[in-house]
Amino acid sequence: MTEEKGKMWGGRFSGGTDPLLERFNASIAFDRRMWREDIAGSQAYAAALERAGLISAEECGRWQDGLREVADELERGKFSWSEQDEDIHMAVERRLTEVVGPVGGKLHTGRSRNDQIATDMRLWVKQACLEIDQDLRALMTGLLEQARPRVTTLMPGFTHLQQAQVISVAHYLLSFFWMFERDRGRFRDTAARADELPLGSGALAGNAVGVDRHFLARELGFAAVSANSMDAVGDRDFVVEFISAASLAMVHLAHLAEDLIIYSSQACRFVSLSDSFTTGSSLMPQKKNPDSLELVRGKCGRVTGRLSGLLATLKGLPSTYNKDLQEDKEPLFDSFDTLRDSLRITAGVVGTLEFSAERMRACLDEFLLATDLADYLVARGMPFRQAHEVIGRIVRECEKTKTTPSELPLESYREQSELFEEDVKEVLNFDASLATRASEGGCAPEAVQRQLVAAEETLAGGEVRSMDVE
Ligand code: ARG
Repeated sequence: MTEEKGKMWGGRFSGGTDPLLERFNASIAFDRRMWREDIAGSQAYAAALERAGLISAEECGRWQDGLREVADELERGKFSWSEQDEDIHMAVERRLTEVVGPVGGKLHTGRSRNDQIATDMRLWVKQACLEIDQDLRALMTGLLEQARPRVTTLMPGFTHLQQAQVISVAHYLLSFFWMFERDRGRFRDTAARADELPLGSGALAGNAVGVDRHFLARELGFAAVSANSMDAVGDRDFVVEFISAASLAMVHLAHLAEDLIIYSSQACRFVSLSDSFTTGSSLMPQKKNPDSLELVRGKCGRVTGRLSGLLATLKGLPSTYNKDLQEDKEPLFDSFDTLRDSLRITAGVVGTLEFSAERMRACLDEFLLATDLADYLVARGMPFRQAHEVIGRIVRECEKTKTTPSELPLESYREQSELFEEDVKEVLNFDASLATRASEGGCAPEAVQRQLVAAEETLAGGEVRSMDVE
């Protein structure tokens, strides 16, 4: 059994803790990652205690120097961890007391690890949202750069993985730009809801020593103070929101990864991946595998799993703080790391992607123009439903006679409808087909040019305001 003497909460215990529980209970292995936030919280709290007249300016000054020294040790990897350090809050307070002497023991006056951890977590999430935003923007910039010169580069557009209508590479790439822009919005929302200070809520009922919470909020860069101390110490909605936004971003990344895996396969060869983002086979010398993209696709399951895991932890908890809440950190950190790496890997893949315009054009199936043929009849007065039926019969005729729509003789067209004239063959042109879809948001070059301008404006504006912890 380990002794309770050195413990922050040792007073009421006469027996020691089972070593297994000691290890099971400790969060230091992973929450040490939040040391910056923890120290920032203590610096602000020390200043608030001084303002409340609970400590002298001299004591506060000693604490601030001491906290700076502890931060410096942590920064340089010189901090010596102790067996007694259950979590980052205890480790910092223990070391501070070693540095400044027994006066360090006053720092926790009116404060609980419950409002402390909630504060650290919110600070961490706000910063994480900012960092993810930067990586999302970098990926979106890469998509935009690849799209810009490919407004007239044709490729088949698919539905159900069947060739459907002709599109351009630029239009295809920009479809992902807008997904990632929505992801940015979700991280912005997450950061905005995390931007509320829990410190000064105490264990659950509030702070009895008169700290000015608005002062604390200003010091720590929070936009507001929480309205209810019980809610403040028990709330982890912002962690769920972060992992949920991360999950959706991973879904988008996995979706792009899946497309590019298919497009780089021998069956398509629309794109080729750079050597720097592929790996070889230990057995087959010719192989160049898209492991980078497969891992991004695979890790999507990992992040969505973290989301369901945390929701299951939160479900059915009684009010305010329960130790179950310690289980919020690993899913949060892991989701952040996984998303950030996946965004960077994908940005690397996209930035070095080579497109084969010839290969994509060669793969265009003339049946991609079937809708254009129906539109030809509609332009000559036939109701669309009937035109759809007529073209369906022509497709069947092509299949039967093993011809393409341009090889099929005009007589065969006219057997299905008198409205067909010589000029029907002019419809069978992929570039012309692309140009017809000129409505807002369509794939026609002029519409895509407007889309590019909108995308550039989106990236230029809307910078997330700096929320640095400092
Ligand atoms: N390590 C704890 C956590 O992550 C800190 C809060 C502990 N509070 C408590 N009352 N035991 O949630």
